[in-house]
Amino acid sequence: MAAAAIASPAVAEDTAGSSADSGPWAALKGRIKTHYDLLSDYYYSLWGEHIHHGYFTSDPSDTKEDAQRRLISLLLERSQLPRSSTVLDVGCGVGGTSRYLAHEHACQVTGITISSKQVEIAHRLSADEAAKLGAGPAEEEEGPISIPPGNVRFIELDAEKMGEYFDGSAGREAGFDGVWISEAMSHLPHKQLFFDNAFKLLKSGGGGKLVVADWFKAEELGEAEMDADIKPIEGEPAN
Ligand SMILES: C[S@@+](CC[C@H](N)C(=O)[O-])C[C@H]1O[C@@H](n2cnc3c(N)ncnc32)[C@H](O)[C@@H]1O
Repeated sequence: MAAAAIASPAVAEDTAGSSADSGPWAALKGRIKTHYDLLSDYYYSLWGEHIHHGYFTSDPSDTKEDAQRRLISLLLERSQLPRSSTVLDVGCGVGGTSRYLAHEHACQVTGITISSKQVEIAHRLSADEAAKLGAGPAEEEEGPISIPPGNVRFIELDAEKMGEYFDGSAGREAGFDGVWISEAMSHLPHKQLFFDNAFKLLKSGGGGKLVVADWFKAEELGEAEMDADIKPIEGEPAN
């Protein structure tokens, strides 16, 4: 299962200018975007609305949907993210977590993804769920969709630019109660930049929560484990 880590904001390290868009990284991100643009309909048919793994019990009748929702619930329990929080869902996929947080935890969620196709699917699924819940359509095209008692909105945005994008202007307010990232951090080439941006966008004063679920490499792996499990997925990006 995915490992989970929860932290509160601290003083971020100073990072000189972002290299998020240069050289091989731009090409890598282009391929990631193309991957999700092309495959998200298929992933949806296969994975459902959550493109993340699950927290299974030993009950053989446990379904993947139950397990996926249980993982979100576990993260809520561990992080103690308050109800009605404003949340930035980074790498939001087709919005499954965003809708869960809105409906089950009354949150106002902004989901960002590098894939325009995922934004389109997330809008469609959220509008369908809003209708099922008896909520009206979004008032503006890009405006929040009501998933009572919370709401969601989705933006196509490279997560490595979120620190600049949420600049405090209308619709781009920072000061989130929570930054949530579920099985998307492994896609981000500059991990330090992600943490710097997350701390910048969280509410100041230590009240915000950073909630992370992802696959992590254990320390002190042997050569055989490195060869079998790690090297195949850690190749340098091609130019
Ligand atoms: C495995 S999916 C996880 C989706 C979602 N968090 C969930 O749990 O259902 C990885 C997500 O990361 C997004 N992603 C990858 N690189 C990104 C980037 N640079 N900026 C924003 N999103 C990115 C993908 O578009 C995709 O939505």
